[in-house]
Amino acid sequence: MTDATLPIIHLDVFLASPDSQDALNECKKAADALITFGALLLHDSRVSEEDNSAFLDLIEDYFAQPEETLKRDERPELSYQIGVTLENTEKPKCAVDEPCLKVIARLDPAERPLDISAHSPDPKCRFFWKMSERPPYETNYPGLNAPNVVPESEFLRERWTQIMEKWGTSMKTAVGNLSEMASVGLGLPRETFQDAGRYGPHLLAPTASDLEKYGEKDTILAGFHTDLNFLTIHGRSRYPGLNIWARNTGKRIPVKFPPTGRCLLVQAGKQLEHLSGGLVKAGYHEVVVNDATLQAIERRKLENPNRPLIRISSTFFWHLSSDYDLAPIPALQERARSLRADTINLGKTDLEEDTVYEPMKVGQQVINELRHIALMA
Ligand SMILES: [Fe+2]
Repeated sequence: MTDATLPIIHLDVFLASPDSQDALNECKKAADALITFGALLLHDSRVSEEDNSAFLDLIEDYFAQPEETLKRDERPELSYQIGVTLENTEKPKCAVDEPCLKVIARLDPAERPLDISAHSPDPKCRFFWKMSERPPYETNYPGLNAPNVVPESEFLRERWTQIMEKWGTSMKTAVGNLSEMASVGLGLPRETFQDAGRYGPHLLAPTASDLEKYGEKDTILAGFHTDLNFLTIHGRSRYPGLNIWARNTGKRIPVKFPPTGRCLLVQAGKQLEHLSGGLVKAGYHEVVVNDATLQAIERRKLENPNRPLIRISSTFFWHLSSDYDLAPIPALQERARSLRADTINLGKTDLEEDTVYEPMKVGQQVINELRHIALMA
């Protein structure tokens, strides 16, 4: 395992004076981090540690409810794109996906994820809270734009919407600004990605893993996979266990948040890979129970013995608009090709095949990906 750390990008520098040289350097740093690692740490001083904490408490309380209660919040007819998804529904795509298994095979054995071949589906639950703006036009994908589910129990209901909206807005604002930085850093107009994602079906999507049930070392909580959306952003979890892979180095990186707080983790998803013609690759990641997770469990038991022992990940999926035409931006695709040529010239022969990014509506790309992970028939 490597001790590599991710670059920290300062959003404040960009917001203070977007056209300054310092801001432009920071934008370049953000774009380079996405190209090299598919991920970065984002420092945003507007993000509050207390909001993250209130959010984690709320979601722990929610998932501590009995299964029959949780089941009322399921919406299978909407492909689970709002409300709750209970554990063992979602299959890690990689366990059934040939190109993905090849990605693992190409990794140095010491850098590989935990073996997912015998593991499916994931023992994790999830809640999807839509944070989208209704498009001012007729959409071809109304299924992904349905109203939110609010839990029925009184003790959750009274604080639910306020806490979800507050934390969700912090994450959405931060990732939206980061998309502007990435646009600038890639040599595009600042609004390119923001405009493409203006009416995206963005989701605040906390996941929950019951550590009483799945707290043994080397348990896979979420198997090796990439995300189907544009950019994913996470707040700090109370339990470590997230590993990410730097696509251009093949190194596994256990995610560690700086102790100062106000830092968020951002990862590239499939839509960004597609739009950039493969210049930025969607980042592979997994969530497992490792030694650091076990230590956090013991600490939590001592310090908060009355709290549910559930690992919450405060994930937010930022999407492109469903009706947006997804096709590689020529300048980025060109750069992807020359990077690839450079790598071949350096004598690397174990490269993955040249991916073809067929033009399609974003809504179609999402449907294709959901079929793959067994959430849609
Ligand atoms: Fe993920």
